Amino acid sequence: MGEGDAAFRLDGLVGLVTGGTRGIGAAIAAEFAAAGARVIVTGRNGEQAVAAARALGGDAAGFAYDAAEPGGAEALAAAVAQRFGRLDLLVNNAAILKPHRIDKVSGEEIDLIFATNVRSPLLLCRHLHPLLAGSTAGAVVNIGAAGGHVPMAGIGAYSASKAALINLTRTLAKEWAPDGIRVNALTPGSVATDMILPRDPERRARFVAEMGETNLMKRIAAPIEIARAVRFLASGAASFITGQVLIADGGLLA
Ligand SMILES: NC(=O)c1ccc[n+]([C@@H]2O[C@H](COP(=O)([O-])OP(=O)(O)OC[C@H]3O[C@@H](n4cnc5c(N)ncnc54)[C@H](OP(=O)(O)O)[C@@H]3O)[C@@H](O)[C@H]2O)c1
Repeated sequence: MGEGDAAFRLDGLVGLVTGGTRGIGAAIAAEFAAAGARVIVTGRNGEQAVAAARALGGDAAGFAYDAAEPGGAEALAAAVAQRFGRLDLLVNNAAILKPHRIDKVSGEEIDLIFATNVRSPLLLCRHLHPLLAGSTAGAVVNIGAAGGHVPMAGIGAYSASKAALINLTRTLAKEWAPDGIRVNALTPGSVATDMILPRDPERRARFVAEMGETNLMKRIAAPIEIARAVRFLASGAASFITGQVLIADGGLLA
């Protein structure tokens, strides 16, 4: 390890990753744990969250959390305070994608998308603020999406929710700079997870090839490639970066 590499370590820090049971969230949780952090992962199913935490080893914890549930954010913040008494890093990763043209999406689906993808990160930030403000390394990373930057036909409600989250990221950076909390967003391109991959193996292979063609790298990403970028933003290596969106998309939006 070179001298500068110490800035990328998260030793002694406590980090919460929502939706850490699988996909990008699980990779972020593993990356944080490997960097020395104590990690809290959440999932809608408490047993799955506990199993995901156990797989990380060390002093990890798994909590049930349904981002769409009213009161859920406050209860999660209280559970974090009780179990660890501190929080240094928050990654708002849990989200849902419901692909629909605007003329087809229902009111219930819009409510669910915005409750999960916008309301939950906002309320978690609000309720976890006292803990984050007590840290000397406080950092929030919100997970965006390409649709939050440019319009994408067929996923309009999801894209609007991600645009809102990116806007919220920059507002929070302004409001929380005096508390020493950095707030950034990380926008991934296409990543091989349950969220986008078709279940059928043949359709999946075709989809992976087609999605890969849309960016400059000519492939989709592995979750670890996103997790490393999130770790950078969360770590002391990004100590002068706040209110920004780092785009890790293989050049999709270049
Ligand atoms: N994959 C991509 O290509 C891609 C591209 C751009 C952006 N992103 C963003 O990256 C992030 C992670 O996506 P992913 O691809 O890893 O998705 P994923 O494989 O579908 O995983 C989503 C995670 O969120 C949790 N989750 C879903 N609904 C929830 C709810 N109502 N309350 C609490 N947790 C909930 C899931 O946990 P449980 O099911 O256990 O509850 C799971 O851990 C999301 O913000 C997504 O928008 C992904």
